[in-house]
Amino acid sequence: MRKPRIAILGATGVVGREITKITDELKVDFENIKFLSSAKSAGSKITFQGREYTVEEAVPEIFNDVDIVMASAGGSTSKLFAPEIVKRGGMIIDNSSAFRMEKDVPLVIAGVNDEDLKLHKGIVANPNCSTSQLMLVLEPLKKFGIKRLIVSTYQSVSGAGLAAINELTADTEARLAGKSFENKCFKKPISFNIIPQIDDFCDNGYTKEEMKVVNETRKILHLSENVKISCTAARVPVYRGHSEAVDIEFDKTVSPSEIKEILKNAYGITVIDNPEVFEYPTTRDAEGVDPVFVGRIRKNLAFDNGISLWCVADNLRIGAALNTVRICKKVIEMGLYRGA
Ligand SMILES: NC(=O)c1ccc[n+]([C@@H]2O[C@H](COP(=O)([O-])OP(=O)(O)OC[C@H]3O[C@@H](n4cnc5c(N)ncnc54)[C@H](OP(=O)(O)O)[C@@H]3O)[C@@H](O)[C@H]2O)c1
Repeated sequence: MRKPRIAILGATGVVGREITKITDELKVDFENIKFLSSAKSAGSKITFQGREYTVEEAVPEIFNDVDIVMASAGGSTSKLFAPEIVKRGGMIIDNSSAFRMEKDVPLVIAGVNDEDLKLHKGIVANPNCSTSQLMLVLEPLKKFGIKRLIVSTYQSVSGAGLAAINELTADTEARLAGKSFENKCFKKPISFNIIPQIDDFCDNGYTKEEMKVVNETRKILHLSENVKISCTAARVPVYRGHSEAVDIEFDKTVSPSEIKEILKNAYGITVIDNPEVFEYPTTRDAEGVDPVFVGRIRKNLAFDNGISLWCVADNLRIGAALNTVRICKKVIEMGLYRGA
């Protein structure tokens, strides 16, 4: 068995930088590593594990000697390169939405449905950031029978990439200075505002982002079509970290204290829930760290066997880069790459 040869596609982007950092933190065991971008950033330098690497332009031939590609370069780039990578015997762990709902593509949250990785045919998809944090919360609660799920998200601008982060800063500075500002990344001004639209609208009135939460949740947790799921996704003027208000109706009766106990012991979750002393997770608690924080666990007043809770997580880590690198480690451990 040889160690895998790895590439990070989109290494100069917000998620790619985080993947690079976490690849080091989690001590991914590789033979060699490449950092790839578009022609725009090719030639720039990245320091990784004390060594300076030159970022290379992604072209098909560059994947000739790569076994595992961790990709965060947008859907069209993934669609362009995934077939080239697979054709050459490599595999891609993709952050974009390009392949998530394809039948032969495992959609994986490491620690939730690792077994699905065994079904991969060269492409593994990383779920949408809002779905990812939710899965770690729902997996241990699935045993009570999920009957209905309503999710409202409050998503930070980093979910829309580097340009969106810069737009929040520039828009805020302009508004504070009383100057006009032309927003480009968002359909409405993002400073001091909340925008009830993420991604384009679908025919059913939901946005694509909302439907990603609905469809990806069903696929990852293997839930039947009978489970009713609805989502409203909003963009908020926060740099980093997504928050979600979650209402779950279960088949079985379960108390808030039971849910709290289960989540306290669940993989990847930290419970902060002492409202009497104002202890509950806020978005800032999640910045730059790995857990999905859960609080405000209470009986839902609208459902018979219902629970409401609040969860926050770092969208760039568990929502994207951390899960990608964790999947990469699982693929290595399980020997699921060429040369393993
Ligand atoms: N941000 C999040 O929270 C989040 C969460 C989950 C999934 N995602 C997904 O991850 C992907 C990247 O998001 P991001 O936020 O990191 O975006 P970003 O900051 O805009 O970075 C995009 C990266 O892709 C590279 N790239 C663009 N076109 C390319 C091409 N034709 N060939 C090779 N590389 C190309 C860019 O290289 P240059 O520097 O050369 O332009 C850059 O490295 C998207 O698909 C997004 O939906 C993001």
